[in-house]
This record gives sequence, C-alpha cells and structure tokens, in this order.
Amino acid sequence: MLLLNRDEVKRLLDMAGCIEAVEKAFAELASGTAVMPLRINLFTPDGLALYMPAYLKKMGALSCKVVTSYKANPQKHGLPTIMGKMLLQDPETGDVICTMDAAYLTAVRTGAASGVATKYLARHDRGQTAVIFGAGVQARAQLWAMTVVRDIARAYVYDISREAVRNFIQEMGEQLDLEIVAAESPERALEEADIICTATSSPTPVFPGEKVREGTHLNCVGSHTPETRELDSAIIKRAKIIADSRQACLNEAGDIIIPLREGAIKESHLYAELGEVVTSKKPSRTDDKEITLFKSTGLAIQDAAAAKLVYDKAVAMGIGTEVEL
Ligand SMILES: NC(=O)c1ccc[n+]([C@@H]2O[C@H](COP(=O)([O-])OP(=O)(O)OC[C@H]3O[C@@H](n4cnc5c(N)ncnc54)[C@H](O)[C@@H]3O)[C@@H](O)[C@H]2O)c1
Repeated sequence: MLLLNRDEVKRLLDMAGCIEAVEKAFAELASGTAVMPLRINLFTPDGLALYMPAYLKKMGALSCKVVTSYKANPQKHGLPTIMGKMLLQDPETGDVICTMDAAYLTAVRTGAASGVATKYLARHDRGQTAVIFGAGVQARAQLWAMTVVRDIARAYVYDISREAVRNFIQEMGEQLDLEIVAAESPERALEEADIICTATSSPTPVFPGEKVREGTHLNCVGSHTPETRELDSAIIKRAKIIADSRQACLNEAGDIIIPLREGAIKESHLYAELGEVVTSKKPSRTDDKEITLFKSTGLAIQDAAAAKLVYDKAVAMGIGTEVEL
C-alpha cells in the first residue's frame, strides 16, 4: 500500500487538473455510472465525523474518506477545522492500494467543484471581481479555483477575524499574483461582486441577500447541517439554485432546509444538480441578469476523482512510501 503525506499530496494536486477530474465525476453522477451512498454523519460532543464512500466506474476510482469538522480545533488545539484521511481501493480486487492525507485534498476538491459550477454558470466578462466570505482553508481554494476558470481582476475578502484576513491577503495575493483587498463590510463588497464564494464556519447568514447584484454567480460551501446556514432566505429565493446533490442538500444543508421550512421556497426551486448542467441535461444561465447559486455540501465522488488523480501521478512519478500491512 502506498502512503502519501500532506506535502506529497500538495505537490501532486493542482487546481486545473482537479477541476477537470471533478467535472468528469459530476458527469458520471448524472449519467448513472457513479455509485455514491449518502454519507454517514456522526456527531460527537466536539464535532462531526463524516464517512464518505464512492465508486466511479469510468474513472476506475473506488474510495472512502474519513473526515472531521471540529470548529473549535483552531482555538482549542491549534489544529485545522477540517482533517481527513482517504482510502483508495483497487476496483478489481477491492484491496486498499493507497492511504493519503485528505485535508488539503478536501480543500482543493471543494474549490474544484465551485470551479466547475463557475465555469458553467458565471458570466463570461473579462476583469471580474470575486468576493470571498471567510478567510480560512476552504476560502483559499475557492479563490484559487475562480482564477482558473474566469478572468478575475481583483478580489475582496471578508472575515470576522482581522488576522485571518491579513494572512489570507498576504498568502493568496502572492500565490495568485492578484490584488486582494479587505472588504469594509459585506454590503460594500456586494456592490462590486460578479462572483461570490461563501466558505465560513458561520451558523447564521453572512450577508443580506437582497443586496446581491443581478447577474452574480455564487458558490456556497460552508453550511452543512440542517440547523446552520450562511445564506438568508432572500438570496435563496432570488437565485437559480444548482445543488451538488438534491438529496444531500435536502438532508444536510440548512441554507436550503430552513427556507423550505419557512415556506420561502418549494422543493421545485432546486433547479438542477451540477452534473445535469455539465451533461447539458439542464441549460445553465439564460441571461446576464440571472443570479445563479451553486450549493455545495461536498460529495464523495469529488474525493474519489481527486484521490485517483493524485495516486496515478504518484505512481508515475515514484512519489510516496510503500508499506506492507
Ligand atoms: N462543501 C464542502 O464540500 C465543504 C468542504 C470542506 C469544508 N466545508 C465547510 O466550509 C466551512 C469552512 O471550512 P474551513 O476549513 O475553511 O474552516 P476555517 O476554520 O479554516 O475557516 C472558516 C472561517 O470562517 C470565518 N467566519 C466565521 N463566521 C463568519 C462570518 N459571519 N463572516 C465571515 N467569516 C466568518 C472564521 O473566522 C474563519 O476564518 C466549514 O463550515 C466547513 O465545514 C465544506
């Protein structure tokens, strides 16, 4: 079995390649060649543990991720909110052929799903402004993905932690060679946004939905329990909603479940799944005024596609440590 640590995964996984792989995974999901049971969500007193299996027939990827979301980890233990490990199996024998760190992989594959959604749904103008809510781990990969699929001229970042904003600007400004500015307020940032990404750990809405400009595209990745949400009912009501998975959103996403419970929307308001847009079963944006919103809960097919990409590259380049169990 091959072991790949975080640094090795980081060396092997690039955003453009991951967007391509994740796009194929969403196409497999919509075409019926993917097997993805609903993930198991196990709540502990301190956080949430998720068990996420998937099989992608065309890509030949079989995997299971164990990932945790412990919101107090950064303050309490100096550890990241999201940590995980990935088991990749040989689909012919079922044997586990690789174990890899999945914290970085999770951020990149989450960014990649937003990249796919943005590629299909956002307007095509040059020199767009991206606004990122949250300045943590996921937020970095969100902005990175935006720069791969659209011409981003500048970005605003908003976070309740000033230190997080400062670090984000320094690190991502250098990495992406991009002008990144701290947003004065959510409202002020919305006035210029062409693309918005929400990647916060907030349990309540992070901006007023009625202030979002016509034509904006949003990628919303942060909320994933029925009682928490980053988005208010106003933006959910105004937007054309594309889910990563309808079933997952209806089971897990407070962003969708709370407006449904309030009667602000009906289930039919969920327009499509991303895979249906990728495979042209459902048309994407119809005009430049429409607000489009990708709601991401995070799917095991994204992990399977990203892990297969990393593993194949590792084998080709001779990276990693072989162990006999
Ligand atoms: N959809 C997916 O596939 C997916 C994948 C991984 C993580 N997530 C979720 O994304 C969220 C962020 O994860 P992370 O790893 O980046 O965590 P993180 O702790 O690194 O960053 C979260 C940031 O959100 C900020 N924040 C909290 N409330 C805010 C508010 N009201 N306005 C602005 N910023 C606020 C925090 O200060 C922090 O900097 C979590 O909820 C996580 O569970 C989703």
